[in-house]
Amino acid sequence: MQNPKLKQYLMCRNREGDGLSYDLISLIHEVSITCKEIASTISLGPLSGVLGVAGSENVQGETQKELDIITNDMMYDHLKFTGLTAGMGSEEIDDPLMIPEGIQRGEYLLMFDPLDGSSNIDVNISVGTIFSIVKAPKGSGEDPSLEDFLQKGTEQVAAGFVVYGPSTVLVLTTGKGVNTFTLDHRIGEFVLTEQGVTVPEETKEFSINLSNQRFWEKPVQDYIADCLQGEEGPLGQRYNMRWVASMVAEVYRILTRGGIFMYPFDTREPGKAGKLRLMYEANPMSFIMEQAGGMSSTGRERIMEVDATGLHQRVPVIMGSKNEVQKVVDYHKKAEKAA
Ligand code: AHG
Ligand code: MN
Ligand code: MN
Repeated sequence: MQNPKLKQYLMCRNREGDGLSYDLISLIHEVSITCKEIASTISLGPLSGVLGVAGSENVQGETQKELDIITNDMMYDHLKFTGLTAGMGSEEIDDPLMIPEGIQRGEYLLMFDPLDGSSNIDVNISVGTIFSIVKAPKGSGEDPSLEDFLQKGTEQVAAGFVVYGPSTVLVLTTGKGVNTFTLDHRIGEFVLTEQGVTVPEETKEFSINLSNQRFWEKPVQDYIADCLQGEEGPLGQRYNMRWVASMVAEVYRILTRGGIFMYPFDTREPGKAGKLRLMYEANPMSFIMEQAGGMSSTGRERIMEVDATGLHQRVPVIMGSKNEVQKVVDYHKKAEKAA
């Protein structure tokens, strides 16, 4: 039998009691359509004529790539006419994005990182799109306020990400496990390729940008120092290291073969709690990681329980194989006790 297509699969699961609204299924499907457009643009590489920097900065003071802006516009321009969202929040835009006059406001709020890992785009390394969906507290028909977006990760009704790699894959959760869909270019559809993704509990592979080592806090310093000692050290095993600099690619690898991914707090910019953003990076990835049996923490608390105070709020991220993340949390506990 042919693998089920994304929307067909979600509708089928719903008949079996998944309890998703038809609008939520449609919204996920419409997001996936934009991701196909993004995949198509990205696959052209230099032929698209849009590689390189845009010459502008986003609200976080990061240099925007042409494709950061183009993919942001693709997402907003497609979704704003569907009648499925009441508003959107994007990494690339300071304030929430409103729905134009005369268009139905839907029941959901969509937050997204249109192009994750965009520093990799010019060098032909995997990049991706991350999205998080919550219910609009005022219901459909009304414009949301900024506060409406600021819900804890535990309130997410769906989260997903797409990796534009050698193949284009969509990883999705609606709170009942994690499934992977692969874009079949022959038919232009995402089709189910793995059901019930589970992260191995144990791992010997860590991912962290080691060049920031001198800026980390003591628990992360200690953990990595112990990893580097291998089987001679207190962790008693030899570790391997990977750093792609695209969170989507790291998380996909961890979902496939286990691992631990860290972008911890560092003191480079003490005013910022980390590099990654809570609402459209850490929360959706944490929802997926937990639904796959993994763990996700700041080192001190579960990411999905962090209070949301801003659309572009940053948070330390430690996620992946359960037992390894727990070890890093224990290093934090130990440091706190000693202090
Ligand atoms: P974005 O391209 O959306 O700004 O996100 C990039 C993030 C994340 O994907 C990755 O893990 C990390 O930044 C890489 O950071 P370094 O460049 O510090 O390695
Ligand atoms: Mn990102
Ligand atoms: Mn981005």
